[in-house]
Order: sequence, then structure tokens, then C-alpha cells
Amino acid sequence: MACIRIPSEDRVMDDPESIRRFLLPFGIHYDRWPVAGRIHGDASQEEILAAYEPEVEALKQRGGYITADVVNVTPDVPNLQAMLDKFNQEHRHAEDEVRFIVKGRGIFYIHPETTDPLFSIEVEEGDLINVPAGTKHWFDLCADRTIRAIRLFREKAGWTPEYTGDQIAANYQPLCFGPNYIHERGIRVEQAIAIA
Ligand SMILES: [Fe+2]
Repeated sequence: MACIRIPSEDRVMDDPESIRRFLLPFGIHYDRWPVAGRIHGDASQEEILAAYEPEVEALKQRGGYITADVVNVTPDVPNLQAMLDKFNQEHRHAEDEVRFIVKGRGIFYIHPETTDPLFSIEVEEGDLINVPAGTKHWFDLCADRTIRAIRLFREKAGWTPEYTGDQIAANYQPLCFGPNYIHERGIRVEQAIAIA
């Protein structure tokens, strides 16, 4: 289940309804799709896309997305750090960044254009999230350096990062709370991988 953190207010949100309501004014639609019993974590891209075809097709219709694929990041991916470094600096995209997390975890930081404070959204298995086109944001993996996600696109070129040049990401130590956080609030706070 996702977790929102607002560092400047020392505030954390971890129930799906509060998260949904909090994100809507930013144009972010949060949803949960079931995973357990539907696919196994090491299913192939084809198996994953086949299993979620009804949801993916409905989302394509709603959001005007044309294609979907599956990204699979593990600690063994060659040049993983170089890949992560592309997305851990503040940037925007010309189109929505849409992700459904099948396995693993990651953390998005959202930097609103309004006076609203910056916040992070930690996502994990079963979470569906979109970062709307034009929204300033960055992304980090958690310590396990693992994420498997369905991505939806209007066109893949639209997902090229446009960097803002702001070094703001350096001011935020990425924190992932991990699966035990909800039950042991404050006890387990796991530091995301350090990315310079
Ligand atoms: Fe992005």
C-alpha cells in the first residue's frame, strides 16, 4: 500500500482513501489493483500484460494511452546507477508517467507549482499511480533496488525527462518506510539507496 510523506509538515498518510483524496487536486489518480493470486512475481512481460489486460485497456480508454509495457529493474541490471541517475533529478515529462507496481517498491517526489508543500509517494505492489504531464518530480528506488511495473504511454518519446536544473532533490534524503511501517510505525524506516 502506498505511503505519502510531507516532510515540511512531518506528516505521513497511509490509508488509501486519504491518499486518494490528497492526490486528486494535483491531478494524480491513485488506485489499487489486486496482485496476490493473480500473477507470480517473476511472470514474464507477456503474462503480466495478459493478466491485467482488462484494467490496462480501461485505463488506455480513459487516459488516451496507446501502448503498455513492463519495466523490470533488479540490482543486477547493467548500468543500473546510470539509469537511476536519469530520473533522480527534478524533471518533467510532456506526457503522464503512469505506473502499476507489480513487484518491489519506489518513491516519487512531487514538487507542486502552487504553494502546496513538496511530498513523496512511496509505491509498492498493487499501487497504480500517474504523474501528470508537466509536473515537477523525481524518482528513487528503495534499498532493495527492485521494481517491476506496467507503464502506459501515449508515445514513448513523451516520456523523455526535461530537467528543471533545480538541485532540490539533493535536499531530500529518500526514505522508504517499507512493508512493516504501518504495523510498527516509526520503528522501521529504511533508507533508500544513496544516489549522489
Ligand atoms: Fe519522471
